[in-house]
Amino acid sequence: MTFSLTTGRLILGDLQERDRSNLRLLARDPAFQKYVLVWLDTEEQIDTFLRHAIEEANAKDRQDYTLAAREKGTGAFAGLTFIVIDPRYPTSAEFGIALLPAFCKNGYGTEILESFLAFGFTTLGMHRVFGKCDEQNIPSARMMERCGLVYEGTIREHVWLRDHWRSTRYYGMLAGEYSSRSKKGGNNTW
Ligand SMILES: CC(C)(COP(=O)(O)OP(=O)(O)OC[C@H]1O[C@@H](n2cnc3c(N)ncnc32)[C@H](O)[C@@H]1OP(=O)(O)O)[C@@H](O)C(=O)NCCC(=O)NCCS
Repeated sequence: MTFSLTTGRLILGDLQERDRSNLRLLARDPAFQKYVLVWLDTEEQIDTFLRHAIEEANAKDRQDYTLAAREKGTGAFAGLTFIVIDPRYPTSAEFGIALLPAFCKNGYGTEILESFLAFGFTTLGMHRVFGKCDEQNIPSARMMERCGLVYEGTIREHVWLRDHWRSTRYYGMLAGEYSSRSKKGGNNTW
């Protein structure tokens, strides 16, 4: 069965074998290389990533929703997104979003994150939905703040990311925060 989430302007759907070239393109983007903790630097890494995503899409008790964002109407690949139930703490889910440069700064990230919050809390029944970003990644931090996520702290220089020690900022929202926000009539923090 194919899975999809619909946002205002995008469809988030399972990755397909044909997305190999889209992943290659995304991985070449300097912002992706600088900020994203996903390894798509070699053909072998792309293979492993794609195989894992396709396997997970067919898993019985699916925990990992790694999804391509495609523009409604044209079907153009806009970026790679995921929401994954934390295997260690299954009442939490982590999301991630990486868009191609042509799709940045147009509110798509915010739109996708809103849809992940709804899916995470309402459909998956999570207690906490969280995201993280390189501490130098201002657009990502702004996007999470804009959607009302709370800054939870920074893990300092925990991993070497291609050319620098990455410090990671964590942002989260709890189910109670999501439902009180929804009762007030949506995200009115921005
Ligand atoms: C981070 C990312 C997902 C944000 O999505 P987006 O669609 O560009 O963000 P939005 O248009 O929804 O805007 C969110 C906020 O970021 C701001 N923003 C976007 N790009 C920016 C930039 N280059 N510099 C400063 N602020 C920026 C927007 O103005 C908006 O801020 P506001 O609340 O003050 O209006 C997207 O830029 C991206 O994919 N970047 C490359 C890969 C990446 O860094 N992924 C995140 C890994 S953790």
